[in-house]
Amino acid sequence: MKKTNVKELLASTNYDQEIKLMGWVRTKRTSKNVAFVALNDGSTINNIQLVFDATEFPEKELAKVTTGAAISVNGILKESVGAGQSSEITVKTLEVLGEADPDEYPLQPKRHSLEFLREIAHLRFRTNTFGAIFRIRHHMIFAIHNFFNDKGFFNIHTPIITASDAEGAGEMFRVSTLDPENPPRNEEGKIDYKKDFFGRETSLTVSGQLEAELGALALSNVYTFGPTFRAENSNTSRHLAEFWMIEPEMAFYDIHDNMDLAEEMLKYLIKYALDNCYDDLLFLEQRLENEEKNMPVEKRTDMKLIEKLHFVLDNDFVRISYTEAIDILRNSKPNKKKKFQYPVNDWGVDLQSEHERYLVEKHFQKPVILTDYPSEIKAFYMKQNEDGKTVRAMDVLFPQIGEIIGGSQREENLEKLRNRMKEMEIPEKEMFWYIDSRRFGSVPHSGYGLGFERLMLFITGMGNIRDVIPFPRTPQNAEF
Ligand code: 4AD
Ligand code: MG
Repeated sequence: MKKTNVKELLASTNYDQEIKLMGWVRTKRTSKNVAFVALNDGSTINNIQLVFDATEFPEKELAKVTTGAAISVNGILKESVGAGQSSEITVKTLEVLGEADPDEYPLQPKRHSLEFLREIAHLRFRTNTFGAIFRIRHHMIFAIHNFFNDKGFFNIHTPIITASDAEGAGEMFRVSTLDPENPPRNEEGKIDYKKDFFGRETSLTVSGQLEAELGALALSNVYTFGPTFRAENSNTSRHLAEFWMIEPEMAFYDIHDNMDLAEEMLKYLIKYALDNCYDDLLFLEQRLENEEKNMPVEKRTDMKLIEKLHFVLDNDFVRISYTEAIDILRNSKPNKKKKFQYPVNDWGVDLQSEHERYLVEKHFQKPVILTDYPSEIKAFYMKQNEDGKTVRAMDVLFPQIGEIIGGSQREENLEKLRNRMKEMEIPEKEMFWYIDSRRFGSVPHSGYGLGFERLMLFITGMGNIRDVIPFPRTPQNAEF
């Protein structure tokens, strides 16, 4: 018999049919001669109830049906008489595929803390919370490709190993096959990377942007969606050392087109989640509510998860310049009362996430797109404004997250780009290929990077970025 899954069965009204089903036991309860088992196979957040007539199964076999055990059953789909479920299965045959010793199995049917579950990330897939998160994660990946494909964008794979530091931040992981105990040295006594695998120093990429730009200058609209790596020692709930980034790059787009696309994309993704992940979102919303019951009122979120998603969907994002934002922040209550960890005094300072969240959560109560940042705090490739001190950057700021997207119009003028690279001491020789893109057929173009896990934080309402990627990589942590 062909096997079916829990999702299909819960949606089916084909009662009295024989079915075959496999999955993992969540709970078992026995009363008199009947055992009730909640079975889950990951196809949905919901379990299906299996009903065993205990007199029909060897006691030894039924005893192996414990939380975490994998089983295969044949049975009959019945309309349920019990409350809380529409259908259930009267089990005819049972095969225990994999036992889970109750004295050893760490996941018991009770609430486990997220911190504890992080320590057993190899098993946390089996909880309701992480099942929901990783199903949503899949749907969001799919939705991203859908969005760009529908718009006629082409997906480009940009390299993971690279010799360039796109963001100029220098926080890269070295890729090398040299013997760290005994590396070859050159005449100056320095490590001789000419003898390394690629004949030069290489690292894991921090961004696929620069290569995506090359694609855009021929295919017009492209996007990359790949892993990126940053060796910044930021032990926060918003930073990973390995994260996934979506980077569209569009020829003939100015900063306004860029902002329009970013807003449209984020709204599309939120709507996609509401349309396709409702059960999982509802579960996460309830989970969050339970968590917050024990918190002081002022720490609780103002909106329920689904309400918050609708709120962002239904409102235009606010668009203001960095300079306007600095004015607002300078005159804000928390700044005057010295409540910010980083006080805002002078034009030119970089914004911290406390500032970004103040603008979004307190001042505007809407997502905000900030543009025209000081050139000193932004990357070399951003288009320089006429004022000589700002660039056409855009950061999209979200509630609870702060920066979710960073992007800009790109400097398409060869001389201006060259001058900026000189000022920032970016070696022209190694970047000849990037400079060539401005020498031949250069056009105005723009792009941005969406941090995929930051998006996941927003959609799921989770508080820590380690909980929205299956195997987080953070300082001092690369287990599993
Ligand atoms: O602002 P960033 O550094 O921009 C770039 O890398 C550009 N090259 C993008 C582009 O224009 N194509 O990073 C983009 C986004 C951030 O807004 C944030 O959402 C996310 O990537 N991000 C991180 N997410 C998790 N952990 C980290 N350490 C992150 N650093 C950036
Ligand atoms: Mg940024």
